[in-house]
Amino acid sequence: MKIIETRAGLQDWSDAERASGRRVALVPTMGALHPGHVSLVREARRHADRVVVSIFVNPTQFNDPKDFDGYPRTLESDLEACRAAGADVVWTPRADELYPAGAATWVDVEGLTDPLCGASRPGHFRGVTTVVTKLFLAARPHVAVFGQKDFQQLAVIRRMTADLGFGLEIVGAPTVREADGLAMSSRNVRLGPRARAQALRIVESLDLAQALLRRGERSHAAILEAVTKKLGEASQATIHYADLRDPTTLEPAPAVLEGPTLLAIALLFQKDPDGRGAEVRLIDNRVLEVDPA
Ligand code: PAJ
Repeated sequence: MKIIETRAGLQDWSDAERASGRRVALVPTMGALHPGHVSLVREARRHADRVVVSIFVNPTQFNDPKDFDGYPRTLESDLEACRAAGADVVWTPRADELYPAGAATWVDVEGLTDPLCGASRPGHFRGVTTVVTKLFLAARPHVAVFGQKDFQQLAVIRRMTADLGFGLEIVGAPTVREADGLAMSSRNVRLGPRARAQALRIVESLDLAQALLRRGERSHAAILEAVTKKLGEASQATIHYADLRDPTTLEPAPAVLEGPTLLAIALLFQKDPDGRGAEVRLIDNRVLEVDPA
């Protein structure tokens, strides 16, 4: 496995692979790799001959400098995970190369970035789409893999890729969970033990919504009320959002649900009362199946 730092180094490598007729896949990450990321590397391997993992904690997508500073950085074990997952290249760009002094160019996707995480994290998606553009231009992949865990991010990147004509395929991969159901996230390690226990209310509320639909409930309001009540049991958290939306347009779902519906949730956990852990924002989602009544 090669470790490449410079953009020119990666471009040269990718151009040579392309010239030899091999398909290149890119898996963008911010490091602190866990089995969810590893599953993306495996998925990438199914779509390409060569897999590049980029590791870059992108400063422009953090709203809170504390979150950026506290973001886990575990390069040695990340490289090990990439090697074990069968990556061919790990690209670790430097911030001053991706954002040279005086950088003034942004990529901004409108509309899809307004609700959900866009509403509670102003500027976040502009940072994501800008950096992903830079990653695409350097790695020149045929395919790029993103997790459905970040459902809105995936939708925004699909839109951007189509709009800018990158000519590459975007693959969405399913969410990998801990044994108890909590969606894996690099931020989970920062939860105090009490917050970690309460975080299970998130996946329970996704299950509850699907169970209500199976029993014939179709009322948007009734399902949201049940979800909000369940999330309220996580007394250490505030709800950033719990929303039912169209999975493609991200527009609010109708009053009476009638087709596949996205339930998207974001909670902000406080540190434990005994001071353990840190403030952590968690997101999760599920596309609920809504069978014809
Ligand atoms: P990061 O949070 O490191 O996530 C990298 C990729 O892993 C994303 O596509 C994310 O959706 C996916 N992922 C995270 N947790 C997952 C899980 N439990 N199961 C499956 N996939 C999971 O998302 C980012 O980084 C950044 O915004 C990035 C796209 C790299 C741009 O900076």
